[in-house]
Amino acid sequence: MTIRFLLDDAVVEVADAAPTATLLDHLRYRLRRTGTKEGCAEGDCGACTVLVGEPVADGVAWRAVNACILFLPMIDGKAVLTVESLSPGGTPTPLQSCMARNGSSQCGFCTPGFVMSLYGRAIGAAGHALPVADVIAGNLCRCTGYGPILDAAQAVPSIDRDDAALAAVLRDLRTAQAPDASPAWFAPRSVDALAALLLDRPDARLIAGATDVGLWVTKGLRAIDTPVFIGDVPELRTIAEDAAGVTLGAAVRYAEAHDALARLHPDLGELVRRIGGLQVRNAGTIGGNIANGSPIGDGPPALIALGARVTLRRGDTRRTLPLEAYFLDYGRQDRAPGEFVERIHIPRPAADAIIHIAKLSRRFDSDISAVCGAFHLTVRGGVVETARVAFGGMAATPRRAPACEAALTNAPFSEATIAGAIAALREDFAPLTDVRGSAGYRHEAAGNLLWRLWHRERGEPVSVRELV
Ligand SMILES: Cc1cc2nc3c(=O)[nH]c(=O)nc-3n(C[C@H](O)[C@H](O)[C@H](O)COP(=O)(O)OP(=O)(O)OC[C@H]3O[C@@H](n4cnc5c(N)ncnc54)[C@H](O)[C@@H]3O)c2cc1C
Ligand code: FES
Ligand code: FES
Repeated sequence: MTIRFLLDDAVVEVADAAPTATLLDHLRYRLRRTGTKEGCAEGDCGACTVLVGEPVADGVAWRAVNACILFLPMIDGKAVLTVESLSPGGTPTPLQSCMARNGSSQCGFCTPGFVMSLYGRAIGAAGHALPVADVIAGNLCRCTGYGPILDAAQAVPSIDRDDAALAAVLRDLRTAQAPDASPAWFAPRSVDALAALLLDRPDARLIAGATDVGLWVTKGLRAIDTPVFIGDVPELRTIAEDAAGVTLGAAVRYAEAHDALARLHPDLGELVRRIGGLQVRNAGTIGGNIANGSPIGDGPPALIALGARVTLRRGDTRRTLPLEAYFLDYGRQDRAPGEFVERIHIPRPAADAIIHIAKLSRRFDSDISAVCGAFHLTVRGGVVETARVAFGGMAATPRRAPACEAALTNAPFSEATIAGAIAALREDFAPLTDVRGSAGYRHEAAGNLLWRLWHRERGEPVSVRELV
């Protein structure tokens, strides 16, 4: 299959692109852009960070992504910047000089990745308005230590890019491409085309951000038959926000959804901020997080507690179900062959709702949950009127906690009720012991999250950061 993308300002045409070749391998082994490094090949270390750009009304929207888990055809019609793009003549940019002056690099292996993340921040790329520590949370350095890197990062001035000409080339590149199918890789350009394609090929493998599927290839060495990329389906990239709530197309990325979700409730924004590093949030989607049915995905418990519904589509037929009903068992979801997740609806909680969403992981940044708990209560006149409680990491699927909810509902909002609800969690869950936590830890931690809700509602400090 043939794909075309812009590298700096030159069109690169790849006539023999293998569907699951990674962008990283292509950069390093075909284009000899070896500044982009391979550390982990699973999205964890950021050594392979590049910027990918798409044309928007006022130029090019850039985002930092991990090239190691990005399939090459996913950048068809897009622009790419690598660390070499910043200093074409070999003269370091002020950003790079700043890193050197601050002693921010020792062996240098991680440095191109940091430079690209920081360049993204300097040019105001997607999600890069975050504090520096968040922008580089997906970049690991094993020898320098983060102090000098953070110091250099704070000193980097913002950079103005004029991407008008680049955007024009990109638009031509997109329109010049043949729409949709090739036998090896499918990239439908409308949701109707996607629905029709999946009726014909119900065994197809959907790919949204590839932050899960990419690892099946790079780590699992799996072949992906009939890959169907949904990242270029415009209807799946929309965010609708109104008084009733937020509706996300299935291919909306975390970084794009963050603000709308944070407006629904700050805890939801904070949860999204702690999913992977920025590079993962700039690629991964909430639709993919739901569709993969992982018991430790962070999105589902929070969305279930908020009463989210998911719309599935097969051909022209749609059905909408409560999100909790979608997860049937470990590795089994209520999705028929040829059906796909089209959108997710998250109702706006009542202004006086008590919401507490908490992710517990071994490392604060860029880590998978051991336990993720989400609580959504309405308390009127001192009595709990409604309670929705959901957990990830406690069972084979993300699940509600019916006994805990029953212990809370219609009971006084009191310390005794919270203690009873915590005890009831033992009826709801029999968690596993694994590398992220023992069964005992998970029970204890899940209950402590309810204590945290209680103390937070009483205005007491509940986070280690608030206590120091
Ligand atoms: C370094 C790293 C850190 C991570 N950290 C976290 C974390 O903190 N919390 C967390 O929850 N997850 C984390 N993940 C996992 C991953 O990022 C999420 O699960 C992400 O939401 C997957 O979305 P995606 O778009 O990349 O899915 P993809 O990899 O593209 O697809 C995942 C699965 O969903 C299917 N699929 C995708 N879209 C649809 C659709 N519309 N309809 C039907 N099926 C579909 C695919 O076929 C595949 O089975 C991390 C991953 C990495 C690599
Ligand atoms: S090589 Fe580690 S994130 Fe890509
Ligand atoms: S400088 Fe060696 S890993 Fe960062």
